[in-house]
Amino acid sequence: MLYVDVALLPAELEAMPLARFGAVAVIDVLRATTTMVAALENGARGVVPVATPAEAWAWRAAGGPVLLGGERGARRVPGFDLGNSPLEYRRETVAGRLIVLTTTNGTRAFRRVLGAGEAGSNSQEIIAACLRNAQAAARHLWRQAEAAGGDVLLVCAGTDGWFSAEDAYCAAMILECLREHGPLEQGDGARAAARLGAQAADPREELAGSRHGQRLLALGFHQDVEYCAALSVSQVVPRLDSGVLVAAGTPAGAEAGAC
Ligand code: MLT
Repeated sequence: MLYVDVALLPAELEAMPLARFGAVAVIDVLRATTTMVAALENGARGVVPVATPAEAWAWRAAGGPVLLGGERGARRVPGFDLGNSPLEYRRETVAGRLIVLTTTNGTRAFRRVLGAGEAGSNSQEIIAACLRNAQAAARHLWRQAEAAGGDVLLVCAGTDGWFSAEDAYCAAMILECLREHGPLEQGDGARAAARLGAQAADPREELAGSRHGQRLLALGFHQDVEYCAALSVSQVVPRLDSGVLVAAGTPAGAEAGAC
């Protein structure tokens, strides 16, 4: 029986005993974790999640041949090479490159997980999950928990400190995929997310109806919302390795598709 819980907001991490979780997935469907998956799928060498544009500029100043990506207010940070639209992270742009990414909520959620985990174990697996890699992320989390022991935590990045429906919906989809592997003991956050998922419409409607989805649509990012809504179409699982997200090995025989 695998114990799994969902932090519906990163703020929950402050009081949470993070060390008990052997595997943690950060979820920011719109759009940071979807962008991370897109970048690695298109051959990026790695993605470094940083909290602020200043930290990203410091990477550039250090002389590394990095691409700077990210947004504030959903728009590209002035002077950066890329914004936070997964559609910008095309193979011809990102293949072989190291990307330093800063976003308002998603990359900060990674930093909060890392900060909260300082007292915990170094062997904790931290991955990026979204709808596009939901099935692959669940498989990776299950295998990790099975091999290394420990519980699984899904952390929803939220939007500007607020609960976000699209991240909770994605958590519900990952729970559904985890159930394919065996029985789950769900914490209260996981039970709440699962109930929300059971009531949900289709992924596109869930994303388009959410607060941040509405904002992206108003800014003209219709294609991004479509792209982010595709369920379990990618096998790429970004995992943190010394502060850099790299693609975990694709398991043999893995096939895309819903759970
Ligand atoms: C974030 O991290 O807040 C988002 O990814 C914002 C966005 O949609 O660009």
